[in-house]
Amino acid sequence: MSKILPLEANHFISKNTVFKTLNQGVVTAKAPSNIALVKYWGKEKNQIPKNPSISFTLSACFTQTTVKFKKKSEINTFAIEVFFEGKKHDSFKPKILTFFERIEKYMPFLKHYSFSIETRNSFPHSSGIASSASGMAALSLCLMQIEKKINTNLADDYILKKASFLARLGSGSASRSIKNGIVVWGKHPKIKGSSDLFGIPFPYTIHENFKNYHDTILLVDKGEKTVSSTVGHQLMENHPFANVRFEQANNNMIAIKNILQNGDIKQFINIVESEALTLHGLMMSSNPYFILMKPNTLEIIQKIWKFRKDTNLPISFTLDAGANVHVLYPEKDRIAIHKFIVSDLIEHCQNNHYIRDRVSFDEK
Ligand code: DP6
Repeated sequence: MSKILPLEANHFISKNTVFKTLNQGVVTAKAPSNIALVKYWGKEKNQIPKNPSISFTLSACFTQTTVKFKKKSEINTFAIEVFFEGKKHDSFKPKILTFFERIEKYMPFLKHYSFSIETRNSFPHSSGIASSASGMAALSLCLMQIEKKINTNLADDYILKKASFLARLGSGSASRSIKNGIVVWGKHPKIKGSSDLFGIPFPYTIHENFKNYHDTILLVDKGEKTVSSTVGHQLMENHPFANVRFEQANNNMIAIKNILQNGDIKQFINIVESEALTLHGLMMSSNPYFILMKPNTLEIIQKIWKFRKDTNLPISFTLDAGANVHVLYPEKDRIAIHKFIVSDLIEHCQNNHYIRDRVSFDEK
């Protein structure tokens, strides 16, 4: 059954027209990457997810964006220029223009300015790490700062909520890249405050075991993906297992909600690894079918399982829509597990490259 766009979306339409007095300015924002524990895979129109998802917000991987804006006289088209790591990058323009089209209703000032968008990532561009989540989130935060200059009364909570709402329209997982810690996106009847429109901080107490959880990202394949997430989401539309999958994700949200509160790492591993393999199983059972894992992805998974069996240490993995492996482990076991990663796993990475990251709980 298809979901209807909730009416609350209207809540985010900016009603202000006094922007006519704001001539130019510069804003800047930083937004983190995130890694989903229960995955978003399948969506409705207007970037409404088929099922709720939950992620760790990372700290080392982020995007930093600066937007310079200037009033223009012609107001029928968008005017943007994009610079990536200091160089003009026209190939990013279409995605941002589509984003502007989607959000214009909520930000009527967009056609009144020309925008120069300068963006850089803390991680290498060709690392296979999706920059759309942190990139769209950083841009949305910048746009909200401009809206705040127009309407100085905006409350901080509204700004963050609307930034997540806008980011979602750029890329679904970007809605989870506004807040630190653990973020839920997508309505679930048992998670209070959850919404299909924006991400919310996990609204329950988080067990110490999951504070400072580590995520070492093994860069198995830094190339361009053969199938984009957007196409992958579309392939869920006629997927034979779609309904069962959406039901499973809803059940996994309940399970993980309890696990994050009671600290049960064994159960955590079970849900998170199952979600990762289910995601890739859905890709393999789509029509057309495809595989994003590489032989080294599987080598690493096998080694993780063997090491876990041999040592009883709580190492686990998750995957996003690509070949890279996110190795997850708690703070208390970081030394032994990091040693194993360096001695046994990084040989399966392209040029031995990996990134040490962890869930970020620092306040902005
Ligand atoms: C596998 O958010 O990249 O990482 O909404 O089309 O931009 P679009 O897709 P995107 O999909 C992310 C898929 C995922 C799982 C997840 O992050 O939940």
